[in-house]
Amino acid sequence: MQHLITTSDFTKDEIIELFDDAKMFRDLQSSDCLKGKLIVTLFFENSTRTRSSFEIAAKRLGAEVVSLDVGSSSRSKGETIFDTVANINAMKPDAIVIRHSECGLPESLKEHVNCPILNAGDGYNAHPTQALLDLFTILDHFNNNVEGKKVAIVGDVKTSRVASSDSKLLPRFGIEPIFVAPDHFKSEDESIRQVTLLSEVIDEVDVVMSLRTQLERHSQVYYTSMQEYAKDYCITKEIFKDRDLILLHPGPVNRNIDIDDEMLLDPRSKVLQQVSNGVAVRMAVLKKLIK
Ligand code: CP
Repeated sequence: MQHLITTSDFTKDEIIELFDDAKMFRDLQSSDCLKGKLIVTLFFENSTRTRSSFEIAAKRLGAEVVSLDVGSSSRSKGETIFDTVANINAMKPDAIVIRHSECGLPESLKEHVNCPILNAGDGYNAHPTQALLDLFTILDHFNNNVEGKKVAIVGDVKTSRVASSDSKLLPRFGIEPIFVAPDHFKSEDESIRQVTLLSEVIDEVDVVMSLRTQLERHSQVYYTSMQEYAKDYCITKEIFKDRDLILLHPGPVNRNIDIDDEMLLDPRSKVLQQVSNGVAVRMAVLKKLIK
């Protein structure tokens, strides 16, 4: 049985095969290859894209979906997360999709279940399906010619599970991630090149990925107003000029803080394309893991 906890759970060949399926699903939109299967989604952190994308992906493959309403579950009566998952597992689902604020939780659940665990984001650790859909979007845009391309990942890379997963996955396909962040948001990962301002690397990158500032994951307040942060880090047309770049963001976009309104409407912004691709990529992931 295979799980998806981090992108390293898939070999490069498996990812290439997965993307062939994702392309097929993007064209086909639906299939009945998971007819009769049941997928449970457990979102202990809020989500718009990942949860609905997994649920739509499952339904487009013919599977049934049960989504635990965490707020009204027996967690409020003191049930542990392990007991919650053990009880869901006892109902014999074919896969469990889980998001939780605790880093490493999906990994630790693997030995307690009889079905694949799909990590939909664990704290600042990993967000494997986001990284897969980001890579898919980049490969698609550049017709697979990505060797030597560079991606500036801009913002709070310190606590971003997207930056963490992307920076591990992209180099496997010959793409260099460069982190762009103020000192207090810089990553401790010394294997990644880091700069302070986008202007330092804008002329050498091919993709700019903006990130949300995960204020909920910081114990300190760094800005009295996010406008202060936006002054240096909001992606605008003034920064992009007429450069041949694409702009990505995993969402949710903090408008006029992460990316300004005008730049979101620019054809170089692929933010909604990422969302569309996310459904196709998750369809391929579900097909691969559910037997
Ligand atoms: N990209 C992403 O994880 O978005 P959600 O938090 O809305 O799922």
